Amino acid sequence: MRRTIDWADDAVVVIDQTALPGEFRLLRLRTVGELVDAVKRLAVRGAPALGAAGALGVALAARTSEDVEADAELIATARPTAVNLAWGVERALKKLPQGPDAVLEEAKALLTEDEELNKAASEHAAEVVLRACPRRPLRLLTHCNAGRLATVGWGSALGVVWHLHDRGLVEEVLVDETRPLLQGARLTAWELAQENVPHRVQPDGAAAAAMAKGMVDCVLVGADRIAANGDVANKIGTYGLAIAAKHHDIPFVVVAPSSTVDTSLATGAGIAIEERDARELTHYAGTPIAPDGTRVFNPAFDVTPHELVTAVVTERGRYEP
Ligand code: MRU
Repeated sequence: MRRTIDWADDAVVVIDQTALPGEFRLLRLRTVGELVDAVKRLAVRGAPALGAAGALGVALAARTSEDVEADAELIATARPTAVNLAWGVERALKKLPQGPDAVLEEAKALLTEDEELNKAASEHAAEVVLRACPRRPLRLLTHCNAGRLATVGWGSALGVVWHLHDRGLVEEVLVDETRPLLQGARLTAWELAQENVPHRVQPDGAAAAAMAKGMVDCVLVGADRIAANGDVANKIGTYGLAIAAKHHDIPFVVVAPSSTVDTSLATGAGIAIEERDARELTHYAGTPIAPDGTRVFNPAFDVTPHELVTAVVTERGRYEP
């Protein structure tokens, strides 16, 4: 299975997630400008994959740039919510005094760790799910894409699905389409199809109704930043899902590598939430779907208070706020 993001021939190579599911193509990013643009356009996305992009971006800068620190700042601030991006940048930057090769080696080590840590986190989370949910096989609901494409390799929330599916324990995954950029419909459904996991895509607004109809045993999501008290920033719509899950007494499990935990923030109130371009809502594939001049509120993420979260699971096990 190809990595979502890797280093090859002096370039950062990413699967272009703007082209899926229609086309599987790779982008070769040879400059910091190209990498920052790919991050902003969500050609590479998902918190752990952004951590890898941060580190590899610094490796690129260390080889090509006259002002590595300034380029590192550009990379770290390309998207504000996933703490992994700045974390990856800082980790690679620490090796700069030892030269470009040392920076690259550190970035490559981060990539290998990302696969291992997400595998471990999702294995722990699979046990949490099995303990919390008595029904077999399981009906799972997920939001956005927290799969291979959101990480270097394995995936976090979808990583749990891979573990459970291997054991024949998954009846179905309900996939929120994830408005407005459709990471669920385009990317999660694509990954589940590749692995022959039974799934259905639903509009985000159907999630509460699916819970009310008794179609969901557990909600599984990833995270972009987790505050010290366990508040979780994730794709917009996650908070609403957590409220609905609480109302229906359905476990709500968050899976992430520990690099997503930001202990510098006491609560989720301190998490910067990215707001994206109005055209993501006013247009669909270039065609206007709202009257000219319509104003929008387009936050890319929301914060779910820890009271609504059954468990946050990292590679270290169940995370204690
Ligand atoms: O805007 P995106 O697609 O980068 O948002 C991604 C998410 O919200 C994911 O759920 C999160 O990064 C966890 S990925 C393992």
